[in-house]
Amino acid sequence: MKNIEDVLHWADNLIFNDTGKHLTSIQEAILTGVWQRQKYPQIAKDYNCSESHIKKEAAKLWEKLGEKLGEDLNKFNFRSKLEKKNRVSQVSHSGDCLLQEIDINICNQFIQNINDRQTRSHSHPDSPQTKTQSPIIDIADAPELTCYYDRTSELSTLKQWILQRRTRLITIYGLSEIGKSAIAVKLIEQIQTQFDYIIWRSLSNNTTLSALQTDLKQFFSRSQQTPLPTVIDYFRSYRCLVILDDVQNIFRSGQFAGQYLAGYEDYGKLFKQIATSSHQSCLILLSWEKPREITTLEGENRPTRTLHLKGLGEQAEEILREKGLTDEEQWSELITLYQGHPCWLNIIASTIQDLFNGSVSLFLAEQNEIFLGDLEPLLESHLERLSEIEKQVSYWLASQDEAVDISQQPADSTLSKSEFWQAIQSLGRRGLVEKVQVGTRSHFHINPVFKPYIQSKSNLLFD
Ligand SMILES: Nc1ncnc2c1ncn2[C@@H]1O[C@H](COP(=O)(O)OP(=O)(O)OP(=O)(O)O)[C@@H](O)[C@H]1O
Ligand SMILES: [Mg+2]
Repeated sequence: MKNIEDVLHWADNLIFNDTGKHLTSIQEAILTGVWQRQKYPQIAKDYNCSESHIKKEAAKLWEKLGEKLGEDLNKFNFRSKLEKKNRVSQVSHSGDCLLQEIDINICNQFIQNINDRQTRSHSHPDSPQTKTQSPIIDIADAPELTCYYDRTSELSTLKQWILQRRTRLITIYGLSEIGKSAIAVKLIEQIQTQFDYIIWRSLSNNTTLSALQTDLKQFFSRSQQTPLPTVIDYFRSYRCLVILDDVQNIFRSGQFAGQYLAGYEDYGKLFKQIATSSHQSCLILLSWEKPREITTLEGENRPTRTLHLKGLGEQAEEILREKGLTDEEQWSELITLYQGHPCWLNIIASTIQDLFNGSVSLFLAEQNEIFLGDLEPLLESHLERLSEIEKQVSYWLASQDEAVDISQQPADSTLSKSEFWQAIQSLGRRGLVEKVQVGTRSHFHINPVFKPYIQSKSNLLFD
């Protein structure tokens, strides 16, 4: 074991094998901190709890891990013991290294546990008596997937964050119809046996926080004899997975991205509490915009992560195949042009069928600038949410031939530097502006599909 990820994975398997539960976030924080040679006061500060609480939890953890290892573990010897065992395992040819054996046994048991759980969950779906083996699920709000184009790499990132890194708050943001809900449905399918409760709720009706909390508590308490007082109590006592979809509905239009509507600011507090307090659950937000405060909660070794969901790769060929398009050798060009966006490609494939008898080659040959057609309403739904400053900046970006350095700025505008920077950041949080690295500097450009549309809408500036 050379790095903290291996250590956490190893410890998680060990604890899971012993107790059927994963490492808690505080145990993760202790292992990570001690591995990085931090002292308990520092770990307590980073984790936002008292030093005595860390000490108490750490003592229990050393005892449990030490017992399994047959070693006397403490904060001083933890790293050296594991490193020493690792060295033994590297020089050992007989395969009798204690750590190796433990790892292999635990791994086998771990897989066996999952298999057992899966078998049980198939035989007793949603049965309250078996709630610790199979989850209690309410995902009636989630869209149904009639087909699925693979997103292996994004799914494995999400699974790693949730199952191995014990991430407590995940934001998946991206353009409308890019596939945020689809990937979340697939994710649930793949990890459901790891949870006690799974619930999906959409905020498309501008649900207030108190209505949501009441709803969640009702869901959790249906299978309980003694209901718990708050949602976070359920998050602590059980492994819950909550998906909040359409989160952009609680953000303001006409302002920088990710600012709450009046009366909805408390959501920000809940997100922060979920990210920073100790529990074993996960909240996933699906949104067009990244909430502003998420950035400050993120960081290496912090249980908050963000996935900017972009288009499908070559999997998007399936969409063109289903539409019966021809000239397969040019499909990848079409997919790149429309950024692998499943819905955009679907719309454009229909146009190619209608106007070019399905020939991708003829369609591409006729393009002077990217054809939008029925995509326009989808693009408009994003642009109408922009603030006036963002409109000005995106119009200027759309007029540039190349990505611009942050030190450049619209020459004839009255924008201050701070407004310009904020606008670039905000457009990034909407996935409309992308960053490219040029040497050591960051350059920015507007999404190329939006570019001709924004150029054609100079009246944006004068709304
Ligand atoms: N990986 C995928 N496999 C199959 N269909 C997909 C996939 N990704 C997206 N789609 C299809 O594309 C359409 C849009 O997907 P989805 O509803 O998941 O997007 P979204 O990002 O949640 O959009 P919105 O922000 O508007 O809610 C749906 O019809 C969905 O079935
Ligand atoms: Mg959706």
